[in-house]
Amino acid sequence: MAYETLIVEQHGAVTLVTLNRPKALNALNAQVLADLEAAFAAFEADAGQGCLVLTGSEKAFAAGADIKEMQPQGFAEMYGPDKFAGYDRMLRATSKPWIAAVSGYALGGGCELAMMADYILAADTAKFGQPEITLGTAPGMGGSQRLTRAVGKAKAMQMCLTGRMMGAEEAERAGLVAEIVPAAKLIETALAQAATIAGLGPLAVKANKELVNAAFETSLSEGVRFERRMFFGLAASQDKQEGMAAFIEKRKPSWTGK
Ligand code: CAA
Repeated sequence: MAYETLIVEQHGAVTLVTLNRPKALNALNAQVLADLEAAFAAFEADAGQGCLVLTGSEKAFAAGADIKEMQPQGFAEMYGPDKFAGYDRMLRATSKPWIAAVSGYALGGGCELAMMADYILAADTAKFGQPEITLGTAPGMGGSQRLTRAVGKAKAMQMCLTGRMMGAEEAERAGLVAEIVPAAKLIETALAQAATIAGLGPLAVKANKELVNAAFETSLSEGVRFERRMFFGLAASQDKQEGMAAFIEKRKPSWTGK
């Protein structure tokens, strides 16, 4: 399927989605959201695809929600259609993992979109920020919440209040990104990590994603209880029997997703 604002390719069991509005530094307008929802739904529905990589250009992962689109919009135009709610729908509908591969600017909605990923892989050129305050507004796609959970109150508050950018090294130190790689190796590394994930047992992959995400929505004791129940549940899967048997028999496991 062709998209107006995205390039979508399959690399084996990995879907590579590239934001493609170069003249607007991949600013996220309504068309990008509609395309992302459709591309993520297609990825989720395709049993042959196990992991997705979302990336932008060398200069910009995405420079934010589209300011030119938002400038004339008032309360009614935003609250009425619940602008940006499509991102929540997209996340709820995606049980398989995805990685944000960020090079250059990830600002405002761009930073927020990257933070929706299961993890962020950053090029050494990556710059993160929530500069909405400089436009007389505030984050609207989860930035105040996800950035605070990722880097803690002090840095999140400072970034939201001043609009300053955070470079890749600081972002890694602060826990916002999983790893930094040289810009020229970003896509190759992201695809390799995604292929590793896609090559694992799909039930275990889904469970691990669900478990880590549960840490943000539950108390510690409930989270640990949920984890143990999930661990017991996985014991009923063929893949768990196969994984442990393969270890003992010193051979590679053959996953069935059952
Ligand atoms: N929306 C719409 N267009 C954008 C854009 C955005 N967020 N960011 C950049 N562009 C456009 C510019 O208007 C420009 O278009 P024209 O050539 O037609 O003038 C083009 O992309 C190139 O941008 P610049 O000339 O500004 O490029 P630069 O290299 O000089 O600067 C930048 C790069 C520092 C990223 C700068 O573009 C910038 O500050 N962009 C805006 C960043 C921002 O404020 N993002 C937050 C948006 S609000 C938001 O996201 C709300 C939310 O939480 C949901």
